[in-house]
Amino acid sequence: MSGEVSMLRPATQNPATSPELTDTLQAAVKQKRQSVLKLLADAVKEFGDQQLTFANSFGAEDMVLTDIIMRERLPIEIFSLDTGRLPAETYDLMAHTEKTYQTRLKVFFPRLETVENYVQTHGINAFYESVELRKACCHMRKVEPLQRALKGKKAWVTGMRAEQSATRIDLPLRQFDAGNGLEKFNPLSDWSEQEVWAYIRMHDVPYNKLHDQFYPSIGCAPCTRAVAVGEDTRAGRWWWEDPESKECGLHVKK
Ligand code: ADX
Ligand code: SF4
Repeated sequence: MSGEVSMLRPATQNPATSPELTDTLQAAVKQKRQSVLKLLADAVKEFGDQQLTFANSFGAEDMVLTDIIMRERLPIEIFSLDTGRLPAETYDLMAHTEKTYQTRLKVFFPRLETVENYVQTHGINAFYESVELRKACCHMRKVEPLQRALKGKKAWVTGMRAEQSATRIDLPLRQFDAGNGLEKFNPLSDWSEQEVWAYIRMHDVPYNKLHDQFYPSIGCAPCTRAVAVGEDTRAGRWWWEDPESKECGLHVKK
């Protein structure tokens, strides 16, 4: 593990149950919720309801944003990228979320022919073989569908936090996403993992059951594993790769 990554905040023992809901923590979360609400409401004013979209992976952070958007009835579209390799628990949460908030979410799938060609040429689990094949898989299952999801939009919202990884340390609340050619909002950029979980408990927000099994960060099933106590929150994502290469291409810096 590189020195830079080991400085990141380690995953708490069980994030879904461990933070004690002290008055100080609850007050901090309340205040941060207000700032998120203002940022999103201002974004709606600036870009209009047809031009703004929220990328929801159903991770803990994204469930906080989903809750704020749905409870406050913000006119922000919510979409998800179904890679075809997500864990069963994520599909359960998708269905649970639709039921809880009485909504239907927009889901984008990879292109059939591209997936068929890749699997035919390289094999069903070729992403374990090299960083290139892993990135090619992420490209066809996530990046290309994301490009379709963002088409015609002027801004998008993500659930990324600065503390999550070495590649996100300087993540701003708002930035121009040169890779995708539109504005990008990261309203939870300055939230801690504890604050995310405090919010979830304070508002009884649905969450992925894998979080209870020491999965702080969840992506596709074959590329995500549980972390050990003390490991950083993204240690279970593409765990066989160097921490510096651990981005799937959705969030490229230019
Ligand atoms: S990744 O780049 O490693 O896959 P991560 O899982 O940390 O990203 O998620 C960061 C943000 O990217 C999420 O908060 C969400 O906004 C977006 N995102 C990631 N995966 C998806 C997905 N499958 N569908 C929609 N948005 C996603
Ligand atoms: Fe493919 Fe793994 Fe990337 Fe999912 S996370 S798109 S399975 S390489």
